[in-house]
Amino acid sequence: MKNFVYYAPTEVHFGRGTENETGKLVKKYGGTKVLIHYGGGSAVRSGLISRVKKSLEESGIAYCELGGVVPNPHLSKVREGIELCKKEGVDFLLAVGGGSVADSCKAIGYGMLLDGDVWELYEHTKTADACMPVGMVLTIAAAGSEMSNSSVITNEKTGSKRSYNSNLARPKFAVCNPELTMTLPAYQTASGCADILMHTEERYFTQVPNMELTDEIAEGLMRTVIRNAKILMKEPENYDARAEVMWASSLSHNGLTGCGNDGGDFACHGLEHELGGMFDVAHGAGLAAVWGSWARYVYQNCLPRFKKFAVNVCGVKEEGTDEEIAVKGIEAMEDFYRSIGMPTSLHELGIAPTEAQLREMAKRCAKAAGGKKGSAKVLYEADMLEIYKMANSR
Ligand code: NZQ
Ligand code: ZN
Repeated sequence: MKNFVYYAPTEVHFGRGTENETGKLVKKYGGTKVLIHYGGGSAVRSGLISRVKKSLEESGIAYCELGGVVPNPHLSKVREGIELCKKEGVDFLLAVGGGSVADSCKAIGYGMLLDGDVWELYEHTKTADACMPVGMVLTIAAAGSEMSNSSVITNEKTGSKRSYNSNLARPKFAVCNPELTMTLPAYQTASGCADILMHTEERYFTQVPNMELTDEIAEGLMRTVIRNAKILMKEPENYDARAEVMWASSLSHNGLTGCGNDGGDFACHGLEHELGGMFDVAHGAGLAAVWGSWARYVYQNCLPRFKKFAVNVCGVKEEGTDEEIAVKGIEAMEDFYRSIGMPTSLHELGIAPTEAQLREMAKRCAKAAGGKKGSAKVLYEADMLEIYKMANSR
């Protein structure tokens, strides 16, 4: 096990009715004037925004609002938010929605206190010294932004989707009511489950051999998500299944399932971010579409872990060679994706990139990663291109 820092400062209020505690939580963390930030309207239609406003009013907290955040959130909306918050004297940012809204909030929080343009952070030409406090009412179990240090923004003019990570932006609190996720379309529920799984897989497929407790937590989390994702495809209003998946969303990306590893792999995330930037696909679906190709490309370089994954997560019997067991695990995972309506190729994802686009994505992916990415196998631009091609030809 390698040295690690585990820092998960977010106060989580989990369960039915917890959105009614929002006002008290904002007050606890010093907010007096809040930006209520939300997406395309699901939170308005469900009545959640009204309940959140009531909760703020009961705690004597003033607010303004900005909706319209899109999946793969846009830089232009972030800039609009920064301007609005400065004008309105906002001192607390409240995300009501999913990862896109949370990430837009985090970016606004950086931008309000930054000397310069916020996109410079995402281009990694500048570092943030501060971020306005962010809180979150979660409506989709997926990105894990409610406890993560990450924010992912798309510059819609250039089609580049980039992340900026800093503990400064970890939310002060996360309100997680599983009932709020029951209105999700099945595709978004499944895409969220794929993303949750991937956050732990990215931390699991590494070169560190001895992480007994971390591996047990990771494997338990992945089995739980697989089991409950299948339940949710048949019973979208099953509270317990919603709850298991929602809790997994937070724990999968708050660092817990990577304690003692070498920083993780995260190549699939790098590959997906280019798909999201260029083709605006749902993040979790994009991950599922490349995972099988990535896994086949790298597994021989990380055989013990692929074997362990096959046996402990996918339930593959320990029969045959290690290689055969590992491949059965990859196949089982792809069967699972298909069973919840997730793609296992770019074609199934609904896109058909040209050769030039594949090359451009590989180039951008390598550049964003500083030339190379991965732990299961270190990937360079040529490897990334090969994986895109595999995913495109299946
Ligand atoms: O905009 P509305 O109308 O709210 O609709 C949203 C959106 O269309 C809908 N939705 C959310 N909650 C709903 C609902 N519809 C009905 N009922 C509800 N309760 O779902 C759609 C997707 O929302 P989004 O916020 O985009 O989903 P997600 O949480 O998957 O976030 C994806 C974004 O997060 C980034 C992704 O790259 C992507 O941009 N990520 C952020 C991470 C982080 N900050 O730590 C890590 C991840 O790896 C990821 O990269
Ligand atoms: Zn993700």
